[in-house]
Amino acid sequence: MRVLENGYTVKDLSLENITGLAKLHSTSFARSWGAHDFALFLQDRRMKILGAFQTGEHDPLAFLLVRQVEDEAEVISLAVGRRHRRRGIGEGLLDIAIDDLCEQGVKEVHLEVDEQNSAAVELYKNIGFEVVGERRAYYPAGPSKKRANALIMTLDLVEVDA
Ligand SMILES: CC(C)(COP(=O)(O)OP(=O)(O)OC[C@H]1O[C@@H](n2cnc3c(N)ncnc32)[C@H](O)[C@@H]1OP(=O)(O)O)[C@@H](O)C(=O)NCCC(=O)NCCS
Repeated sequence: MRVLENGYTVKDLSLENITGLAKLHSTSFARSWGAHDFALFLQDRRMKILGAFQTGEHDPLAFLLVRQVEDEAEVISLAVGRRHRRRGIGEGLLDIAIDDLCEQGVKEVHLEVDEQNSAAVELYKNIGFEVVGERRAYYPAGPSKKRANALIMTLDLVEVDA
C-alpha cells in the first residue's frame, strides 16, 4: 500500500473490487464497463489496476488501468470519482504507475484520449506525454455529440530517466 501526498491510500486492485470499479466507471464514462469486464482485465497478467481509497472506505474512489507488454505499456483507462477531482489523485496514480513501469524496464507509455477531454489532455501533458498522432472520428457519437477524434500520446521513459 502507498500513500499519496493528500493522504489517499493506493493499492493494487483485485477481484474483490470489481463491483466498486464498475460503479466508479459508470459515473465517469458514457459507455460503462461492468464488473465482468473488470474481472476479465484482472485475469490478464499483462493488466494492472491501481485504486485510490479514502481511509475506512471499501470501494475505490479512483482507478488506473495499465497494460504492459514487454518494454511498452498503455494507459487503458483512468477515472477519479466526481467529488474527488482536482485534488491530485489522477496525477498521483499515474506517477506511481510510471515509477513501477520504469522499474520494470518499460521504455514508452502510450494512450489514446478524446481531444475534447481537456482535463485528461492537460493532465497527461503535465506528466510529460506528447501528442504523436491522431485517430479521426475514433470515439462513437453520442445523442448530442459528433464522433470525436482521439489524440495518440506517448511518454518516453528513457528520456525521463536520462
Ligand atoms: C481526467 C481525470 C482523470 C483527472 O483526474 P484528477 O484527479 O481530477 O486530476 P488531478 O487533480 O490529478 O489534476 C492534475 C492536473 O491535470 C490538469 N487537470 C485536471 N483536471 C482538469 C480540468 N478539469 N481542467 C483543466 N485541467 C485539468 C491540471 O493541470 C491539474 O493540475 P492542477 O490542478 O495543479 O491545475 C478526471 O477528470 C476524470 O476522471 N475524468 C473522467 C474520466 C476521464 O475522462 N478519464 C480520462 C480518460 S483518457
